[in-house]
Amino acid sequence: MSTSREHFSSKIGFILAAAGSAVGIGNLVGFPVAATKNGGGAFLLIYAFFVAFICLPIMLAEMGLGRRTQHSPYSAYAELGQNTKRWRIAGWLATITPFMIAVFYMVITVWIFGYLFQTLAGNLDAIAQPTYFGEFVNDYSFIAYLVAVTVIINFILVGGVRKGIERASKILMPTLFLMLILLVIFVLTLDNAMAGVKFYLIPDFSKITGSVINGALAQAFFSLSLGMGILITYGSYFRRNDDIVNSGKLVAITDTAVAFTAGLMTLPAIFAIYPETNPESLSDSSVSMIFSFFPQIFMQLSNTVGYGFASVAASVFFLLAFVAAITSLVSIIEVPTSSFMEKRNVSRSKALLVMGIAITILTLLAATSFGLLPWVSNVVTYAGIDKSLFDIIVDVFYDTILPLNGLLICLFVRYRWKRENFTAELSKGNSNYPNTFLHKYVNFAIGTFIPVILAIVFINTV
Ligand code: PHE
Repeated sequence: MSTSREHFSSKIGFILAAAGSAVGIGNLVGFPVAATKNGGGAFLLIYAFFVAFICLPIMLAEMGLGRRTQHSPYSAYAELGQNTKRWRIAGWLATITPFMIAVFYMVITVWIFGYLFQTLAGNLDAIAQPTYFGEFVNDYSFIAYLVAVTVIINFILVGGVRKGIERASKILMPTLFLMLILLVIFVLTLDNAMAGVKFYLIPDFSKITGSVINGALAQAFFSLSLGMGILITYGSYFRRNDDIVNSGKLVAITDTAVAFTAGLMTLPAIFAIYPETNPESLSDSSVSMIFSFFPQIFMQLSNTVGYGFASVAASVFFLLAFVAAITSLVSIIEVPTSSFMEKRNVSRSKALLVMGIAITILTLLAATSFGLLPWVSNVVTYAGIDKSLFDIIVDVFYDTILPLNGLLICLFVRYRWKRENFTAELSKGNSNYPNTFLHKYVNFAIGTFIPVILAIVFINTV
C-alpha cells in the first residue's frame, strides 16, 4: 500500500464530497418529473425501497473495496482479483465508464453554464424563446463555455483530495442546500402551487408498471453514483478507521432527501404557472425540461413578479443546477485521473492535463452531435433511428454498462474478495456492524438477488 495516498481530513468531508457526487441534475429534475408522471407517492416509496435495499449494499461494497485496497478501480480489482484477466476487465470497465459518462455529463453542464450566463446577463426573454435551445446547441459559443467549465473543474481537482475536492464540497454543498430551500419557499408561495404538491405526493398505485419499476431502479442507481468507480475511488481516500457504514447511509439519505425536496420546487412551479398541466404530458427528458420548459416557466413568472425578479429566480435555479453538476463532474473525472496517476506514476497536474485534453475533445465531438458535424450526428442507424455520438454514450454506458458494473461488484465481493473480508473491512470504524441486521441483509442480498436483478436489467437493455 502506498503511504503517500491522499485522504479526506474528516468523515464529514467524505460525506459532503460523496453527496456532492450523488446530488446532480438527476435529483433536481429527473427524479421529480419521473415521480409525478409515475404515480407520485407510490413512485417515491418504490424509489426509497430501492435506495435502501438494492443500492445501499452496492454502495458499501464500492466504498469498502476502495478503502481496503487504497486504490482506484482498475488497481483495486487487479489487486484483490489477483491480477486475473476477468477482474482486470471489470476494473477497466469501472474506469472507462466514468470517462465516457463524464463526456455526456460535461455537455449538459456546459449548456447549463451557458444558460446561467444568459440569465445573469438579463437575457431570460431570449432563452425562453421556443427556438432558442435548437439554435444554442449549434452555436460556437459552446467552446467559450466549455473552456470556462474546464477551468473551474481543473481549479478544484488540481488541489487534490483535501484542498480541492473536500474544500470545494464544504463550500458548494451547503450553498446548494441553501439555494434549494430558498427556491422551495419562494415557489410554495405562488398561487396554485399546492396543486403541484398534490400531484407529486398523492400515491397512485395504478401507474406502477414493470417499466416504471425498472425506471425507478435505474434512477436510484444513477443518482447514488453507483457503477462509475466513483465510490471505489472516494472510498480509497477514506482513512483506516472512518465509519464506512454510517457514512454510506448518510450519503444515501442526503441524496434522497435532496431529490425529494427538489420535487417541492419543480412541480409546484410548473403547476403555479400552468394550472392546467396534465402530468402525463411532461417530458421524460431532463434535457428538454431544463432547457426548454423551465426558461418558459420563468418567463411566464415575470407576469406575476416582474421581469427582474423572474430573472433572479432563473439565475438562482441555473446556479443551483450548475453547482449540482460541477460537484458530480469533479467526482467522475477524479476516477480516470487518479487511475492514470496510479498506473503511470505521474503527478496530479500531468494526469489532469491528459484527462482534460481527452475529455474536452470528446465533449466537443459529442456536443456537435446535434447537427454541426453530420458524421457525429449520425454515427450509426439502428432500428431505423439515427444515433449520434451523444446517444451512443447514453445507450451504451448509461443504460447498459452501469448495471453491468453493479453486477460485477456484487460477484466480486461474493466470489473473490469473500463476504467475511468485506464484513471485516466495514467493521473497522464500526465494530458493532457484524451484529446488525444490516450486515446480515447486505451479505445475503449481495450474493443472491441483487446480482440477479442487475443481470435481468442488463440483459433486458442488451
Ligand atoms: N448522481 C448524479 C445525478 O444524479 C449522476 C452523476 C454522478 C453523474 C457523477 C455524473 C457523475 O445527476
